[in-house]
Amino acid sequence: MCGIVGAVAKRNVVPILVEGLLRLEYRGYDSAGLVVVNDKSLERVRSTGRVAELAEKSLKTNGTIGIAHTRWATHGVPSERNAHPHTSNELIAVVHNGIIENYEELRSKLTGEGYIFTSDTDTEVIAHLIHSYYIKNKDLLKSTQSALAELVGAYAIGVIAADNPDQLIGARKGSPLLLGVGEGEYFIASDMSALLQVTQKVVYLEEGDVVALALVGYKIYDAKGGAIERPVNISELNNESVELGEYQHYMQKEIHEQPQALADTLESVCNSQSLVPGIFGAEAANSFAQINRILILACGTSSHAGMVAKYWLEEIAGVPCAVEIASEYRYRVSVADPETLIVTISQSGETADTLAALNHAKSIGHKHTLAICNVPESAIIRQSKLRFLTRAGPEIGVASTKAFTTQLAALFLLTLVLAKQNGRLSAKQEQAHLHDLRHLPSAVLAVLKAEPEIAELAKHFADKHHALFLGRGLHYPIALEGALKLKEISYIHAEAYPAGELKHGPLALVDSDMPVVAVAPNDILLEKLKSNLQEVKARGGQLYVFADSETKIHSSEGVHVMQMPEHAGFLSPILHTIPLQLLAYYVALQKGTDVDKPRNLAKSVTVE
Ligand code: AGP
Repeated sequence: MCGIVGAVAKRNVVPILVEGLLRLEYRGYDSAGLVVVNDKSLERVRSTGRVAELAEKSLKTNGTIGIAHTRWATHGVPSERNAHPHTSNELIAVVHNGIIENYEELRSKLTGEGYIFTSDTDTEVIAHLIHSYYIKNKDLLKSTQSALAELVGAYAIGVIAADNPDQLIGARKGSPLLLGVGEGEYFIASDMSALLQVTQKVVYLEEGDVVALALVGYKIYDAKGGAIERPVNISELNNESVELGEYQHYMQKEIHEQPQALADTLESVCNSQSLVPGIFGAEAANSFAQINRILILACGTSSHAGMVAKYWLEEIAGVPCAVEIASEYRYRVSVADPETLIVTISQSGETADTLAALNHAKSIGHKHTLAICNVPESAIIRQSKLRFLTRAGPEIGVASTKAFTTQLAALFLLTLVLAKQNGRLSAKQEQAHLHDLRHLPSAVLAVLKAEPEIAELAKHFADKHHALFLGRGLHYPIALEGALKLKEISYIHAEAYPAGELKHGPLALVDSDMPVVAVAPNDILLEKLKSNLQEVKARGGQLYVFADSETKIHSSEGVHVMQMPEHAGFLSPILHTIPLQLLAYYVALQKGTDVDKPRNLAKSVTVE
């Protein structure tokens, strides 16, 4: 959601800005723009199309300092006049991620001072506010700091001034921003993928930090305005990990990366002979000994991972578990229980609702917090006491795939560690689970072989407007995830139900035009599920069943069965996710939608 790139160098920075924006496209956007300083004036180019269009429009633009942005509309429709950068009096230019909550108040104050607004955005107030200080003190750093002190809300910003061609200011509070350190050139960006083209060296800015970049170097100031040193890290990402390679879409690439992502995530555990709490952080053993229940907070796909974990945690570890949508929990009056472990799950670690839910939980007295996240140094990781980093690698497709299955792997490890602590896991069971985890990557690889078969099945969905997904028990959240994937990228309306609920309402929807997708593992609920499928068949519904080989469900008139290679016991939800991801992907291909950047959606939802 929104992306920022900024650069100060001895060379023309426009190609760097454009390439950076291209690499941030995956975050989701509806307009893009850049501005550079050229001959003491601002040269701004904006476009409502793709970054490629912006690149065309800026072929003749040239400057050694500049900022650029991809915008995902919040305040004001997607249009060129609302696209960033926003300027004030041809002197100050600003790009901004986040939301300024007091922008109306600031807007009327600035209007009263004679400022003329040319957009409907909250960002424009930042440009005018900085300008109002800058014309008095001619100090871009101080002016930005003074303006920031007046803002309420979340921001990551980049600022330049037309008469100051050697200084770029960046700042963050509530939205991600990092600093890239090159050879005599410096950069800012929303995430590292934008900067891999120029450097591997990165400084993660802390909440409230302001950074001043110049050709001679950079200086960071903390929230109180004092100069501060932050460590320079070498990013583990490389260009290859964010490139498409042989695949048509990032989503397809990321689906196929799951065996490796799972192997990487499980590496430390699979190489050892036993499970220890330390994999969740140095203080985990101590924290785990003090908790007797779990509350999982997350959004979207990550919340589905939490729902699967609830089944595992209660059945295997005997730990009561509740799962709540972060955006609901953050505003609900709830009762804090000091013996609860708060588990947040997030691919990006920057999801505004999940972060706010975590902070809300802490503010009402929860002291045990664990983050399961794919991005080191993300806000959710930094603000949690315990952490587990999934090692899925960068996930570029908006539809979460490998992040989900690695989250499940992490949650299964949490389950086993707590089960062991609670005396519910014998040494033999522990070894059996470790064996299954070691086998998991190759089991996923075997499921991926069904890709051509699923591509064929997908053709049946291309002209459909609705679909129903059914699952039971552990696999009900997988049905939810399958429905989310389908609606997200193919725009087919899809709903998921626990199969037992069918006759309590949704059965009324079933007719020959309604594809019904069923997740059918060989577990204790299989016979129940089979009866539910009969209910669909009797009403002429078209069934698409993903069944373990031992289920004895076979294709027949109106029943299309894809046999899964094996039943993976407790890990079955991970295997059953794969065909549903592939189904959504191939239906989207049939429909010709923008698979990696579905309409209206953003990868990292950093606003409410
Ligand atoms: C999944 O395909 C989504 N795009 C979305 O639901 C996502 O999982 C959600 O926004 C949460 O993101 P996070 O994991 O980065 O917190």
